[in-house]
Amino acid sequence: MATVRIHIDGEPVDVDAGTNLLMALLDAGHAMAHPCFHPSLSAPASCRMCLAAEEVGDSLRLITTCNRTVVEGQRLSLSHPQAVAARSGVVEDMLLRHPAECAICERAGECEVQEAVFVHGNGATGATLPGRRKKVELGPRLILDRGRCILCTRCVRFEAEVSGTDALAVSGSGADAVIDTCGAPIAHDMTGNLLDLCPSGALSEPGERLHAPAWQMTGISSTCPGCASGCATRIDVANGRVQRVKPRSDGADAQGYWLCDVGRYGWQAETERLTTPQLRGTAVEWDAVFAEVAEHMEQARRGAILLSPFLSNEEAFLLGHLARRWEADLFLWQATDPAGDRVWPTGFTIRAERGPNRAGVRAVTQALDLPLGDGAALERRLGAGDVDALFAVGGSLHGETPEVTVPDELFLAVQDVQPSTWIRNPDAALASSSAWTEKEGTFVDGLGRLQRVRAAVEPPGEARPDFWILAALWHGGPNRDSPDQAFSRLSRSSSSGSFAHLDYGILESRQRPAEGVAFGGGWTSQLQRRGLIAVEDHAKRR
Ligand code: SF4
Ligand code: SF4
Ligand code: FES
Repeated sequence: MATVRIHIDGEPVDVDAGTNLLMALLDAGHAMAHPCFHPSLSAPASCRMCLAAEEVGDSLRLITTCNRTVVEGQRLSLSHPQAVAARSGVVEDMLLRHPAECAICERAGECEVQEAVFVHGNGATGATLPGRRKKVELGPRLILDRGRCILCTRCVRFEAEVSGTDALAVSGSGADAVIDTCGAPIAHDMTGNLLDLCPSGALSEPGERLHAPAWQMTGISSTCPGCASGCATRIDVANGRVQRVKPRSDGADAQGYWLCDVGRYGWQAETERLTTPQLRGTAVEWDAVFAEVAEHMEQARRGAILLSPFLSNEEAFLLGHLARRWEADLFLWQATDPAGDRVWPTGFTIRAERGPNRAGVRAVTQALDLPLGDGAALERRLGAGDVDALFAVGGSLHGETPEVTVPDELFLAVQDVQPSTWIRNPDAALASSSAWTEKEGTFVDGLGRLQRVRAAVEPPGEARPDFWILAALWHGGPNRDSPDQAFSRLSRSSSSGSFAHLDYGILESRQRPAEGVAFGGGWTSQLQRRGLIAVEDHAKRR
């Protein structure tokens, strides 16, 4: 790609032609607050925070940088007194009506208003005006505090350009301007993104503080299991509990800066969890379950395994080997939204395929050269009495599992996150991990992209990760086998297939395990991206 040379405070910087000027400044490491700018939205240049002095001949002019692209030979000064004073003045103006309540604001610590004051403020304020103290409900999941709103219009542009609903607008003018709905509450499936892109604490969820303060959280990079789109997520954890899920824009395979609300809130499903291993409804030790399952599956003459699209590739790999040992046939269930894919104006897609790793499970069975039937084929076999022992895997927190009619007389083992409602009461219940926040391994999404899934927390009670359960079944008891070892074996056994020449190392370098920073949303601001306040530093201070 062609490059152009610009000069920033006398320093030459080479950047790709066509680069946004503000992004070029940020990438060159210059502190520049930018409350109205978002890389996936249009740039109205309304906040005037990103001002720089540009040399034009013998004179200087102040320009906004967020709505321009770099120009060969451009000479900018960020430190010129005029530019410094202009930015400082914009900050002071922004604070005229802004309440000084950072101590109780949920956004504190990851707020771009705080950041602007930190970067451009002059430490003094000459005046204050009465603020607009009014909280309004914009929709079931969204509260607007007009006192904290800086009228950046990111939310208005999101509704126009990304959700395509035009649900928000600026109402009134001048000092009386406020953000308002256009009559109807906001009720689409992308509302959580508004919380991320609002630069201040103006937009929040209903209720009291819903999560720990930003500086107590650690971010874990993972992949959304809500559908086959495989959006890149960051699971923020504090005090051993998941606090929230955010989009992760550094993921090579992310769907831009957005997550749908299924992906963002799906981990909160109010599902009764299976928390103990059980035999015929009675809680027992894991060893007893392993012995019973192994005995019945090994002795079965017509054994079957029903795979789940919520299994990781490594778990499917172990089940493939168990299928060989047990001489069992493999089937894979599918969960498809009959409404089809839902595509948003920018191309963001919520896929009809609800299972996150159906493609990966299929590819694993192909790599192992094992035939794979579908759920309907298993139903036919069950109906014909051609199965005498079935090992079935669920894994859905949201009831996508298909209804399967299993005769009473055959042995049934179910590995699932919740008491089985989709299949009859099992002889053996193996309490396992949710793919939302408790699974370690890899998925292949609907476009064939291999991505890492990471466990942020432990499964509840005596429930165990799916991989741990399957490795124990394979090795005859708990052991140290791990998903990365299983992936290496899968890669070797797939010498010319989908997993050939891949290893965890490649994935780790593309998708860091923990960002160390749990701040902001999909678009982390400039200081956040430079790691000014890293979570590790906070951890050291605790
Ligand atoms: S509510 Fe937030 S995103 Fe919307 S205009 Fe106000 S500060 Fe900007
Ligand atoms: S589109 Fe699918 S993968 Fe992306 S956030 Fe929504 S449910 Fe998750
Ligand atoms: S005017 Fe450039 S970031 Fe707001």
